[in-house]
Amino acid sequence: MRHKIVAGNWKMHKNAEETEDFLNELIDQLPDDLNAEIIVAPTFVNLASAADHVEFTPITVAAQNMHQAESGAYTGEISGAFLSKLGCKFVLIGHSERRQYHSESDEVVQAKVAAAWKHGLVPIICVGETLEELETQGQSAVPVAQTIAALSGHETLGEFVIAYEPVWAIGTGKVATPQEAEEVSKAIRKAITENFGAESGQSRILYGGSVKANNVAGFLASGEVDGVLVGG
Ligand code: 13P
Repeated sequence: MRHKIVAGNWKMHKNAEETEDFLNELIDQLPDDLNAEIIVAPTFVNLASAADHVEFTPITVAAQNMHQAESGAYTGEISGAFLSKLGCKFVLIGHSERRQYHSESDEVVQAKVAAAWKHGLVPIICVGETLEELETQGQSAVPVAQTIAALSGHETLGEFVIAYEPVWAIGTGKVATPQEAEEVSKAIRKAITENFGAESGQSRILYGGSVKANNVAGFLASGEVDGVLVGG
């Protein structure tokens, strides 16, 4: 049985004080019988304090991005070595906002996944189709192709999580139905199993894109979708 994940990608929101306040509130509200892994991804500048803050709680911390190089002349970038040192367990890789605004190609995503593993981080690999791709190629083709590209070319695969986030659903209020998310998750899982083996095929696959309090239950109830990645 795959353990569910509820993850929050805070994007470029929440200053230091807001980060601390939110974490306090979250910690207070965690149920005693919590049966899911809770992950928060604050901004880089608040990562270290957030990691310290949740140290003795069931919450773990993710970075929103990382650079594929170990170190070097890459102004403004952060290496996986720094992230693992400060207590980060996960790192989002290939979020559609990175693909769109920072020209992150499948090759870059693949290199970042390798670098994440090298530093003991678990990549949460984000995949998803634009509205145009949905209309011309259907719902599964692009997320499946992006998943295969991210996982190809590695000698061995480490632990990873896939986050299926249709670009047309991110921050738009348009949400995929749990059935659609299930269909795409199934297609991604099938492709992973066929290309990389049964063990990798048991990796967790999340849904993200306009998940709210009033629709989250449908995704969490699914046997195919292993959790959610929530932004706004
Ligand atoms: P929204 O929940 O705001 O649609 O964002 C989803 C997302 O991008 C999570 O990574």
